[in-house]
Amino acid sequence: MSARESTKEVRIATAEFAAAASKPDQVPKPGAPEIAFAGRSNVGKSSVLNMLLARKGLARTSNTPGRTRQINFFDVKVAGGPELSFVDLPGYGYAKVSKAESASWRGLMESYLQNRATLRAVVLLVDIRRGVEDEERDLLEFLALRPELVVLLAATKIDKISRSAQKPALTTLGREAGVRIVGTSAETRAGREELWARILETLT
Ligand code: GTP
Ligand code: MG
Repeated sequence: MSARESTKEVRIATAEFAAAASKPDQVPKPGAPEIAFAGRSNVGKSSVLNMLLARKGLARTSNTPGRTRQINFFDVKVAGGPELSFVDLPGYGYAKVSKAESASWRGLMESYLQNRATLRAVVLLVDIRRGVEDEERDLLEFLALRPELVVLLAATKIDKISRSAQKPALTTLGREAGVRIVGTSAETRAGREELWARILETLT
């Protein structure tokens, strides 16, 4: 058996774009359990989603912050596993959008996070170099209003700091947020299997 097989890589049978919503009434009818990806603009939400699904470019990524302006839904079937939906949320905290626009995204996100019956878990992404800031604390407080929701914390872009700096940075971040954290990189695919394991756990 090769080293790769022994890591029990999660394989994706199918993954496809299902719907986009820029207003609450455009959110699709609830179906499979949903895992939403939230975080600051440019933190790497769409990249982590693509990494997990092993589909380059399924969710659009960009150097320009504020790229994902809608809620995008993806239907996923794990090989030998469950069906689920991945939900790519618009990023927050980007200064260059108008007040009106950012208020409208916020409304959309809050209505989704507050009301979506099929939502099982929110993966909150933080850049390993930035850590947990006011916006993340606000979001964590907001999510705590629905105690049945699982919140998973993932640090992104760990390839941007040295290997020896990664572990202490992750420990600090986890302590700040009060939850266990997974370090990930969409470049190296570090953390993919661990994050998948935690996501799959929430579905059982
Ligand atoms: P919005 O949709 O604007 O909120 O951004 P996003 O959070 O979806 O970020 P996106 O995935 O588009 O990534 C933003 C930028 O960061 C892109 O230029 C990515 O290539 C880069 N990036 C994302 N993940 C990683 C990573 O793990 N390592 C490195 N080095 N770059 C990354
Ligand atoms: Mg995005």
